[in-house]
Amino acid sequence: MSQPPEAESIRLNRFLARAGLGSRRSVEGLIRDGRVKINGERITDLGRRVDPVKDIVEFDGERAIWPEVWRIFAFHKPVGVITSLRPQGRTPCLDLYASRADLPPGTVPIGRLDADTSGLLIWSNDGPLHQALCRPLSEVWKIYEVQLNRPLPADGETKIRKGEITLDGRPCLEARLRRLDQDGRRWEIAIHEGRNRQVRRMFMVVGVRVVGLHRTSVGGLDLGSLKPGAFRELDTDESTALRRKAGLTD
Ligand code: URA
Repeated sequence: MSQPPEAESIRLNRFLARAGLGSRRSVEGLIRDGRVKINGERITDLGRRVDPVKDIVEFDGERAIWPEVWRIFAFHKPVGVITSLRPQGRTPCLDLYASRADLPPGTVPIGRLDADTSGLLIWSNDGPLHQALCRPLSEVWKIYEVQLNRPLPADGETKIRKGEITLDGRPCLEARLRRLDQDGRRWEIAIHEGRNRQVRRMFMVVGVRVVGLHRTSVGGLDLGSLKPGAFRELDTDESTALRRKAGLTD
């Protein structure tokens, strides 16, 4: 298991990023908005430094944790659970999180799955892994099983494979497709970017609707036989392999 570097005085944005609150750049917005306190004092100075061991850093009133050890978990997200620690009115991952008191503080879901998507969701307190896996053009392949409302037309298949689908004014990267049934309603698709509702929208563009979506793999880590709602901690080899796939070496 990788260890965070020795604690020393570091910039506040770096601390918040390591605590899993976002990229170094995005957490600057949280500081500017006055949502961060050090030892009870509200901080808006982006240049402020922090001692990760001695100082108490809070974000929106909750302590931001400098992880002692980076730990990574696989979680089988059931359909109907929202990937957010602060959802409005529906079953949040937080309920499941609270039921797993042994998850270390600062452990959060990495990326999102739609409420109606099931499957593998990585959770970790590893801030750099979080940022690496959420980069829009990551080299990390994510594999989904897709159920369509009708067979995928041949020209749609070609467009998806060749990256000829445009979403939000930008072409998608090429995707890998594998047919899983005779009539072309069940497919496996692998993508290595992460736009909002990407898989559903890619199929919609070629005239078919996704009626079932399940993620089976992220960066070579397979969901395997993990039951819906269950967590499993990755062992050292799995953690190292996933971090390497994400381009992290330490
Ligand atoms: N693509 C989608 O459309 N939904 C997900 O949940 C994940 C990928």
